[in-house]
Amino acid sequence: MKRLYLDNAATSFPKPACVHQALIDYATKVGASAGRGAYDEAKESGRIIHHCRELIAKLINAPDPDHIVMTFNCSDGLNMVIHGLVNPGDHVITTWMDHNSILRPFNELISYLEIEADFISTQENGIVNVDDIRKAIKPNTKLIAVLHSSNVTGTVEPTAQIARLAREHGIYTLIDAAQSLGHWPIDVLAEGYDFLAAPGHKGLLGPLGTGFLYIRQGLEKVLRPFKQGGTGSRSEIMTQPEIMPDKYEPGSHNAIGVAGLAKGVSYILDETVEKIRRHDRALCERFMAGLDAVPKLTWFGPRDVENHVGVFSVRMEGYEPLELSQLLERDFGILTRSGLHCAPLAHKTIGTLDSGGTTRFSFGPFVTLDDIDYTVDALKTIASKPRR
Ligand SMILES: Cc1ncc(COP(=O)(O)O)c(C=O)c1O
Repeated sequence: MKRLYLDNAATSFPKPACVHQALIDYATKVGASAGRGAYDEAKESGRIIHHCRELIAKLINAPDPDHIVMTFNCSDGLNMVIHGLVNPGDHVITTWMDHNSILRPFNELISYLEIEADFISTQENGIVNVDDIRKAIKPNTKLIAVLHSSNVTGTVEPTAQIARLAREHGIYTLIDAAQSLGHWPIDVLAEGYDFLAAPGHKGLLGPLGTGFLYIRQGLEKVLRPFKQGGTGSRSEIMTQPEIMPDKYEPGSHNAIGVAGLAKGVSYILDETVEKIRRHDRALCERFMAGLDAVPKLTWFGPRDVENHVGVFSVRMEGYEPLELSQLLERDFGILTRSGLHCAPLAHKTIGTLDSGGTTRFSFGPFVTLDDIDYTVDALKTIASKPRR
């Protein structure tokens, strides 16, 4: 039986062949740690990492590659901003659709700093109302952290409008692009984001253990480094160097992972984000129509394909989300994720928090329209059989 991987929201699979080759080349020909030696291999490691920053900067239209800080995943970058920016007495805002990698750092700060937070609920389709954010703004609001697209419903949020609102009030924005980057065009300058965190291992098609944080030029003067340590630069001083990106990159890099990530980003730039988005949109359209025709099935999120990335949550009458995932794997080789997807308030929004969450299907660039038809047929077959 074939294996059909539909858990790209967790991490993308498969990766393009050039990503695998880059890992092998790094492991067999480079090996060294960037910034930790003057020999050619260490210099080559540094060059590969810088090239990756350049490619990411091009992808998101960031003016300076040194403002692309390499991280180990998306949570890492989100934590760097939340813990490095917020002070006692500050007020912060996020939404019910956001992931635990924003909700938990916020709650951690609430637990030991005197900070205030507002968690903004949304309509059932997961779209946050910008006016609700406007109403929550206070004189001491420091940060609005919001996800670009939901990892539960695939809803795309009005982040550019939120950033404009924040800018008008002198508030910083932190965008969690975990479910968008690579298949949704993002321009940090035109959309006016201060900070943007993304994983390297999802839409950017890099290996696990990679990610980045974009820091708008000038904000390195405001953002405290959340972690400190050796950088291979300015070793004579015992405080974190101010130079970018070293200020936020203590410790040895995941250079082998970054080598793979650089190839993933190159692949996307060559294909173009617009083309990958068109493909994702076509998959969404086909899946929406298919899901509507499956008996006993409810799916959540916006009906509008223009407002949707390839992430879908469903419930089937008579089945726990985990049971449905297990049947899809056992009888059809379809791999999905069930449960709350680290986003409890998103499940509260769609009414599935107390009933085990949903079964989630998430697409990647190598998923085909035939795969979508196969998945819809599998759901129809399950729905048509008497419940065992
Ligand atoms: C919306 C969202 N934000 C953040 C994350 C965290 O990403 P990472 O696992 O790379 O830290 C995820 C992961 O699923 C996500 O879906």
